[in-house]
Amino acid sequence: MTVAPAQQRAASPASIDWTESTRELHLRNDRISYVMAVLENGALGQIYVGPALARGRSYRHLVPDEFRGFSNRLGDPVALEYPTAGGGDYRVPAFAVEHSDGSTVLDLGYVGHRVVRGKPAVTGLPATYVEDDDEAATLEVDLLDGPTGIAVTLSYTIFRDVPAVARSARIRNAGTVGLRLRCAMSASLDLPDAHWDLVHLSGTWARERHVRVRRLELGRQSISSSRGSSGHQHNPFLALRRGNTAEEYGEAIGFSLVYSGNFLAEAEVEPFGTARVRVGIDPDTFAWILEPGDEFATPEAVIVYSDAGLGALSDAYHRLYRERLARGAWRDRPRPVLVNNWEGTYFDFTEERLLAVASVAADLGIELFVLDDGWFGRRDSDDSSLGDWFVDRRKLPNGIDGLARRVEAFGLRFGLWIEPEMVSERSELFAAHPDWAIGVPGRARTEGRQQYVLDMSRPEIVDHLFAVLSDVLGAAPISYVKWDMNRYITEPYSLALPPERQGEFFHRYILGVYALYERLTQAFPDILFESCAGGGGRFDPGLLAYAPQAWTSDQTDAIERLAIQWGTSLAYPLSSMGAHVSAVPNHQVGRITPLTTRAAVAFFGVFGYELDTTALTDDERRDIREQVAFYKAHREVLQRGRFVRLRSPFEGDGNDTAWMAISDDARRGIVGFYRVLSRAVPGPDRLRLRGLDRRLAYRVSAWPAGADAMARANEGVRGGDELMHAGLLLVASRDEAAQRGDFWSRLFVLEAE
Ligand code: DGJ
Repeated sequence: MTVAPAQQRAASPASIDWTESTRELHLRNDRISYVMAVLENGALGQIYVGPALARGRSYRHLVPDEFRGFSNRLGDPVALEYPTAGGGDYRVPAFAVEHSDGSTVLDLGYVGHRVVRGKPAVTGLPATYVEDDDEAATLEVDLLDGPTGIAVTLSYTIFRDVPAVARSARIRNAGTVGLRLRCAMSASLDLPDAHWDLVHLSGTWARERHVRVRRLELGRQSISSSRGSSGHQHNPFLALRRGNTAEEYGEAIGFSLVYSGNFLAEAEVEPFGTARVRVGIDPDTFAWILEPGDEFATPEAVIVYSDAGLGALSDAYHRLYRERLARGAWRDRPRPVLVNNWEGTYFDFTEERLLAVASVAADLGIELFVLDDGWFGRRDSDDSSLGDWFVDRRKLPNGIDGLARRVEAFGLRFGLWIEPEMVSERSELFAAHPDWAIGVPGRARTEGRQQYVLDMSRPEIVDHLFAVLSDVLGAAPISYVKWDMNRYITEPYSLALPPERQGEFFHRYILGVYALYERLTQAFPDILFESCAGGGGRFDPGLLAYAPQAWTSDQTDAIERLAIQWGTSLAYPLSSMGAHVSAVPNHQVGRITPLTTRAAVAFFGVFGYELDTTALTDDERRDIREQVAFYKAHREVLQRGRFVRLRSPFEGDGNDTAWMAISDDARRGIVGFYRVLSRAVPGPDRLRLRGLDRRLAYRVSAWPAGADAMARANEGVRGGDELMHAGLLLVASRDEAAQRGDFWSRLFVLEAE
């Protein structure tokens, strides 16, 4: 991992202690402790999750005697690691099965445990990992339901350098008859009080991941997806925060699921005032048969605890997901500035038109040209050709190879859009294999964007896609792939599964997607993959393991993007967020924003353009050349720096947003300030920064460069103490502010002297 600032770096390793006399397990790093104990009745009880507690002491007394089991005290809030139903616990379970006799009762008792250095590799599912065994320690606890032989292994990895525990479960049928899994959560946490706000990320197409906050209330509150992908509507992320928690102080606990399919994240408060949170595969759309000897692995959930606000919670996710979830050659490489032709041409292009776009892009300093939808089959609109992954020679007479080579001759790399999981009714693939599209025999299929979804649960379909896409990617100099997915699943059913196994469909679908990603990324290790799903419909940790960046949203309006990028940053790092400057009036909302503001927003992420470069005026070309140069000069900080949220578009009247990116050594930073609507007679507003070194002096310069009063008031050498305690002056002259107009932005570059 890159070096963290001193205040973030943990000095001692991650430890996992077992105390035989009290039957306690204590996972610990410098910042957090996670304590559990084997209760008198043999269940694995939860004792504590929070700031680090001293090693070598017992914490068992934190659970009063009467809360150590349900015997004679049915419905008590006993805190458990992997709760089940039917034995006196009436809250939402983490684990539920249907036995061969139709009963559903379970009683998981502790059998034993192992501690291993590092983190065992997980196959078939995306997961966090370590590169050195000293980075983490892993505990595996074996539980058993005696009467049936159902064995559950709970896995907990505590990381040395982040206040995070990754949890998952493996379930094995060690009995002699089959059973049906009904619910297999990745993690469940029982908290001793419910004085929390629930924070989640919700929205819809072009409005993804807005921050939503509600008070935790008695009863159940949840977010979920049953669409076959994590979805635009809810993200597999949830945080609890105290009422007084802010970005820079206060308690928060995050739950993030490393999964791209149907999920559930739920909190339940019961009348004793405790709270249970569970995250995992959505049980409503899941059932899985386990024959004797079979094993099922849940996805991983990453729990982060912060006592330093939501900012520190995000820091932990960013670091872990950027450096120990993302994989491959592009994990640490600077990501190229790209131009994508989608909003520039849509389906209406020829080779000559694309080359004209690329040649101007090269002149502007852009590094990668991406050919989006419409290059294959006979695809002149979205009503045909998905599945026919061969080039349309009417548009591209020299093929992808010919186009890519000419693009490369301009000094650009070449990238290509694909949508592997889909098939159009009007396609050769559908004509040949109508049964490959998901649907229930005898029922009409629902179309979405005039297309159907291929049954990715079937290995022969994954094999076919691997073969045809390998041909495409292997036949031309392709450096980047944008993998899109433009509709949800309806009529869920697989012809390849027997009736009793149809409950496995959704999970098997996503396992098929992961398998194809795995094979393509292994076969083409130098290609940079960007995931996409009608914009940000599958922006989740699962896909980050294969594609280190994702198209954040089809919403390219700078003002709408403030909310989307702010919300996304709660769990996801800058290096994962594709952000483009597009033309005005904006194609999604019709708004006209200054080019500077569009760039100033898109800089905070993986930067690019999505417009027709040949339509730019000379002034716009000059400005864009300068923007690209600016981004390249600060790319390391803007892609890999620590992201600090300063002023929220979700608070107050939402008129101002401010954030900054800062290098790990706190010597370089870029501050972004954005004002949506201009206001008359503004006050002498100051923007206090965070994350700087108060002992350092910083040279402050404004971008775009100018000699206005605001630049003059801030430019020069300023102490880290002044910038953090007093701040930057946002309004230096009311006359000047009156002339700015709406959708105004300003960046400040900080460089330690
Ligand atoms: C949805 C994506 O989000 C867009 O960027 C574009 O690739 C279109 N699909 C193409 O169909």
